[in-house]
Amino acid sequence: MRAAEQIVHNIFLKKLNETPLIVCSPGRVNLIGEHTDYNMGYVLPAAIDKAAYVAISKREDDTIFLFAADLEESFTTTVSNYNHSDKGWPNYVISIVDQLLKINKKVGGFNAVISGDVPLGAGMSSSAALECATIFALNEIFDFDLEKMQMVKLAQKAENEFVGVNCGIMDQFASLFGKKNHVLKLDCRSLEFEYIPFKLEGIKIVLFDSMVRHSLASSEYNVRTSQCSEGVSIIQQKYPEVKTLRDATIDMVNECLSNESLDIYHRCKYVVEENNRLLAACEDLNNGKIDHFGQKMYETHQGLSQLYEVSCPELDFIISCTKKEIGILGARMMGGGFGGCVISLVKEDELEAIVKRIKEAYWNKTKIEMNVYITQIEDGTHIVK
Ligand code: GLA
Repeated sequence: MRAAEQIVHNIFLKKLNETPLIVCSPGRVNLIGEHTDYNMGYVLPAAIDKAAYVAISKREDDTIFLFAADLEESFTTTVSNYNHSDKGWPNYVISIVDQLLKINKKVGGFNAVISGDVPLGAGMSSSAALECATIFALNEIFDFDLEKMQMVKLAQKAENEFVGVNCGIMDQFASLFGKKNHVLKLDCRSLEFEYIPFKLEGIKIVLFDSMVRHSLASSEYNVRTSQCSEGVSIIQQKYPEVKTLRDATIDMVNECLSNESLDIYHRCKYVVEENNRLLAACEDLNNGKIDHFGQKMYETHQGLSQLYEVSCPELDFIISCTKKEIGILGARMMGGGFGGCVISLVKEDELEAIVKRIKEAYWNKTKIEMNVYITQIEDGTHIVK
């Protein structure tokens, strides 16, 4: 039993004197395809061995009682009269209640104890993990009979409407649909997906956490989503068939946007290139050309840093360190950006020495002690008890 599971179980018993249902919903990595989801492109995420845990039970009244074990904070509200919380974390749960009520599901009162081991703000989608754990758990205790894809969409909407981040569908999708030792190739337009086996002999997915957490992350994220839409509306004037950047080609971007604002041009160029890169990277994976795949990760980083401008000096420095290591096949910043982790593919027999060198170099440069996570790909949201 993982520590976080044990924690929610024990606290629930102690505080509420009953045995709860416990749901585990993982964080995610994304191998390639960043900032493509809300542009209706492709992504290649996987659920990992770090997760949010929600221990839950129904109540007789309409009270919602929440307890965040890691923060030792509680929050109480009601189904009939809830609001945003200044504490932040309750919003990920309440946003789900809000969505369920909007589709006329009869949510009743409930108790929930929450814990998890997804590092917060590290780009591994701790918030999506909590949203997905919540919707899965509420679906179970109130017998709503929701399908998994419906839960994905509702959890995404919860984040868009209640939390206020215009995120795409990747994180919630990866958390709910993840499968052990597989990455998910998702077409964010049609929502068709396939599981691609990802068990590379002698290679590990390693995350180098810059430990930088920029408050810019959500505001700048929304700026990027609107810059992409702006680009689309300009392209549409000439090519009305282009509904999203997924439908645009590099030629269209060059033709219609190179004389517009440089920001818009760069953002759109990156997105179109990234979609193409992902498709080629999947071919590399199918052909066992993992070194080519790794090179594409570096190209993605370059694009995220120079064109999409969502990196930061600390992440760029980590990338410069990974490039010096022949035991690292590829690396790039991961997730929304402005801090968080670098994802890399590292040869197992050199892992220890590489981690030591990069940690040291990072400390010397920034005086920040970085965390390093060696991740396993695990199953998506499930009941553990
Ligand atoms: C965040 C969002 C996702 C996705 C990534 C960037 O994790 O929640 O929807 O847009 O950033 O790829």
